[in-house]
Amino acid sequence: MLNRADLIKHKSTYQQQLASQLVTAVMVLDEKLTIQYLNPAAEALLIKSFNKLFNVAFEDVFPNSTIDAARLQQVIESGQEFTDSDVVIYLGDSYKFTAEITASSTEFNQSPHILIELKQIDQQKQISAEAFQQQQWESARDLIRGLAHEIKNPLGGLRGAAQLLTKELNQEQQEYTAMIIEQADRLRNLVDRLLGPNQLPKMTQQNIHSVLEKVSQLISFDNEKDIILIRDYDPSIPEIAFDEDKLLQAILNIVNNAIQAIEPANSITLKTRIASNQTINGKRVKLSILISIIDFGPGIPEDIQDTLFYPMVSGRSNGTGLGLSISQTLINQHKGKLSCISRPGRTEFMILLPLSEGKSEEI
Ligand SMILES: Nc1ncnc2c1ncn2[C@@H]1O[C@H](COP(=O)(O)OP(=O)(O)OP(=O)(O)O)[C@@H](O)[C@H]1O
Ligand SMILES: [Mg+2]
Repeated sequence: MLNRADLIKHKSTYQQQLASQLVTAVMVLDEKLTIQYLNPAAEALLIKSFNKLFNVAFEDVFPNSTIDAARLQQVIESGQEFTDSDVVIYLGDSYKFTAEITASSTEFNQSPHILIELKQIDQQKQISAEAFQQQQWESARDLIRGLAHEIKNPLGGLRGAAQLLTKELNQEQQEYTAMIIEQADRLRNLVDRLLGPNQLPKMTQQNIHSVLEKVSQLISFDNEKDIILIRDYDPSIPEIAFDEDKLLQAILNIVNNAIQAIEPANSITLKTRIASNQTINGKRVKLSILISIIDFGPGIPEDIQDTLFYPMVSGRSNGTGLGLSISQTLINQHKGKLSCISRPGRTEFMILLPLSEGKSEEI
């Protein structure tokens, strides 16, 4: 048994180390609302070291944040704890995140302080938003598939009848049946695209760059706009199982869109990297391959950004709006994720392919 003094010493050793190992970001403010302590999780969240933030006023670190300074003052004055689950924190011009914060009163060196716990919640929000989008995409796709299926059967009959009729007609009249057959073939082509990829992928273990090289080759064969393809590969990426034709198709659809969007002689970058701790279809995946297709064109029109991957959504007057929906199906068949970040001047499509098994995450 330890005596009382030793027990206190023992406990404080653990306490000192505990804060530095917590996953939750913890910070301590003094009475003047200046920062007195940050644990490493808080340093990571705020992307600044404790040395830089020590003694800095809370308001200077969190300008424009929705944390109410008056409420923090109240914590000091009345000791009343508060939790706010939707605080928006701005760090710099382009980076913001939403966090849940709990502020409680505490005492250090016999003077009142505030203990703040910060938990970033964007990721959870993003997972639910992604799950919702996926559901919407699936129901739009199923609806269109059903419709396409219904068109396909009578269309076959129509074409067959026109063919039979041709034999009964003179040459001049045959022009009409030829027209029916041609248009029926065009429709059949569209209907097949609407139905989407229907074969299971044939997976083989290989290097992802071989597909990207094929994309470059295909583009260079038919390069009316003199587009320059920049390859920025990470050669250390290990082999992975995938269906070469399907992945090729998925990437080509994306690259073709970029070619259509950008000015002649501009460039498109094909980039590969290893990505860690990504969320793919609601699961946390430790290691994955990231393929990015980047262009510096006008960007995706604002009004179709939310429904970009739905079938029949197009920003082009002669587009069928099926390319990205098909790419999405093909990437899903590889248990991967297709996403996009776009603004005028820069568009990046990202394909994530898992290298390791995903772990379910609470939503
Ligand atoms: N890199 C890009 N830059 C700007 N807009 C893009 C880009 N990629 C896609 N888009 C927009 O997204 C729309 C949807 O693309 P999607 O490939 O699904 O259909 P589409 O190109 O219109 O028709 P389809 O591919 O079936 O011929 C495009 O019409 C275009 O407006
Ligand atoms: Mg397209």
